[in-house]
Amino acid sequence: MSRIAEIYLPSKAKVIDVIEMTPDSKLFMVMPEMPFKYKPGQFVMFSLWGVGEVPISIASTFGVQKHIELCVRRVGHVTSAIHRLKTGDDIGIRGPFGNAFPITNARGKDTLFVAGGVGIAPLRYLINEVIKNKKDFRRIELIYGSRNPSEILFMDDINSWQKKGINVVLTVDRKDKDWRGNTGIVTEHLNKAKVSFKDAHAFICGPSVMIKAVMQDISQLGMYEENIFTTLESHMKCGVGKCGHCYADGKYICIDGPVFSYREIRQYNLNCTP
Ligand SMILES: Cc1cc2nc3c(=O)[nH]c(=O)nc-3n(C[C@H](O)[C@H](O)[C@H](O)COP(=O)(O)OP(=O)(O)OC[C@H]3O[C@@H](n4cnc5c(N)ncnc54)[C@H](O)[C@@H]3O)c2cc1C
Ligand code: FES
Repeated sequence: MSRIAEIYLPSKAKVIDVIEMTPDSKLFMVMPEMPFKYKPGQFVMFSLWGVGEVPISIASTFGVQKHIELCVRRVGHVTSAIHRLKTGDDIGIRGPFGNAFPITNARGKDTLFVAGGVGIAPLRYLINEVIKNKKDFRRIELIYGSRNPSEILFMDDINSWQKKGINVVLTVDRKDKDWRGNTGIVTEHLNKAKVSFKDAHAFICGPSVMIKAVMQDISQLGMYEENIFTTLESHMKCGVGKCGHCYADGKYICIDGPVFSYREIRQYNLNCTP
């Protein structure tokens, strides 16, 4: 088979467990027939025969789990079909694709994670990696916003991160009767971060309006544009720089990204992201 055919051919994988996380997000534990290495920030094309393929970030930690974990929010045709999958079902996987979060230069500095909604999923591996090497970093903080308390993802991880000394600020747009925590969007809570903005590194993931606002605000608080990173999303078909679906302003999000620094993307309109 030619190399071109190979990159479009999904490998077989099996769903080994499905966890209902929130009303519209499920975590799929997937065991690929041919295991592969991956890095924080990379994604796979999750494919269902006869339905389609969608890019999904890898939310598990390489070397810790043998399977991979994919957190999928139901928004449309393919993700609704994915949500109907059950343990034991066969799926296809292509990848891993894309670059990864650059973490080397953040060593010895403060690290700020800012997530919104399902944006916590691509950051989960990175946060675990930073915590695993905690002695190499200074302050580690996470500001995470959800629409309401029932949509907070990975609460067990968040509790364990807090136990390991990470300062976590949780906020919801709309509280319910039991919520005693913060309310409001994440940008309203950036002032709670005790990081030294001048030499900290930030890793941001969430809806495009949130990404744009957070990047602008933390840059105004003094963080260097080249130290602020996010992942961009766009409609993707091939995932490997061939079809042009993800092309925006001179960049292919699938191969030049999905991780970009604020310096690289500041001049572009981030509306190419969801
Ligand atoms: C690199 C990357 C990583 C991603 N990681 C995750 C993840 O970990 N978890 C997760 O739940 N989702 C993730 N997504 C988004 C996911 O790929 C889309 O939600 C999915 O493609 C939607 O497919 P669908 O057929 O269900 O929706 P469709 O029926 O195609 O569309 C439903 C609605 O969503 C909009 N939409 C669909 N896909 C996108 C998109 N990529 N960008 C902007 N708008 C879109 C459509 O315009 C439409 O309004 C990621 C996307 C990219 C590019
Ligand atoms: S998805 Fe085809 S070029 Fe990026």
